[in-house]
Amino acid sequence: MNAEAAVSGGQPPADRYGEDMLAHTVPTEARRHLLLQRLLDPETKRILTGLRIRPHWRCLELGAGIGTVARWLGEQCPDGRVVATDVDVGPLRSAAGPRVEVLRHDVTTEGFPTGSFDLIHTRMLLFNLPARDAVLTRAADWLAPGGWLVVEEPDAFPIDSSPYPAFRRAVQAGEELVARSHGAATRWARGLPEYLRAAGLVDLGLSVKIQHAGNGAGGNEFWRVLLTQFGPGLLDAGLLTETELAAALALFDDPGFVDAAHATVSAWGRRRPTFADGTRHRARSAGGQSAGR
Ligand SMILES: C[S@@+](CC[C@H](N)C(=O)[O-])C[C@H]1O[C@@H](n2cnc3c(N)ncnc32)[C@H](O)[C@@H]1O
Repeated sequence: MNAEAAVSGGQPPADRYGEDMLAHTVPTEARRHLLLQRLLDPETKRILTGLRIRPHWRCLELGAGIGTVARWLGEQCPDGRVVATDVDVGPLRSAAGPRVEVLRHDVTTEGFPTGSFDLIHTRMLLFNLPARDAVLTRAADWLAPGGWLVVEEPDAFPIDSSPYPAFRRAVQAGEELVARSHGAATRWARGLPEYLRAAGLVDLGLSVKIQHAGNGAGGNEFWRVLLTQFGPGLLDAGLLTETELAAALALFDDPGFVDAAHATVSAWGRRRPTFADGTRHRARSAGGQSAGR
């Protein structure tokens, strides 16, 4: 199940996400989160809608950030329950809305009872955590029979064939930086369907979307903010020179620049339904829903 292509050769560090360049206290971090939601929310909502969310569902959003997905889930499930977690719930408290229960919760050390949720969604969280495989397996256990786990994470594989050396170099240096700083695995998400299958989930689905940077691309501002936040760390670690960093940042002002930056891999699967007659799982009908649901 561990399909990480470790960028860094050493031991993964302890989980230190959010203590440095990605801390919620970094002045541009709130803006980075906002740009991320704008880029990713449409595809997330499309995928979740395709799972035919029911009003009574119990939902869990792990590492919810500023909570736009949790808020939306709250609107979809007025008769159910939506729990949104994060290690830093400051931004969530103000943004998640009245239908969402906000919970300070470290997913690497805290859990939920088996079978608690009909839907668990997480995005841009697991790749940051050295314990990502274990967390995914535990999350699958928090699903009720028939419940869905939806995981959306970035994979940097498109950057390897970028025709822009300055951008390629900067993104690859950023991959090394986050691997060293908190054990992030930026080449892990490609295997998500297999990880979900190994966790015992069925009815798997997959969507891979390329995120663009460059003039006119929605991701341009996100990449500018991200690379600016990473800049001091990249220079301190000797991963980029000032000239290389400046060359990469200059691309975001170049009207001729547009490129595939990374992929967002979204994968989903569900826990086998258990029926009153004791059978574990029945094949999906042609209409897409399992019998007995
Ligand atoms: C890149 S942000 C993604 C936020 C949101 N899921 C999204 O897609 O916009 C990662 C979030 O995970 C949270 N996080 C990091 N480590 C965590 C942990 N161990 N348990 C729960 N949340 C964590 C961070 O505080 C941050 O809000």
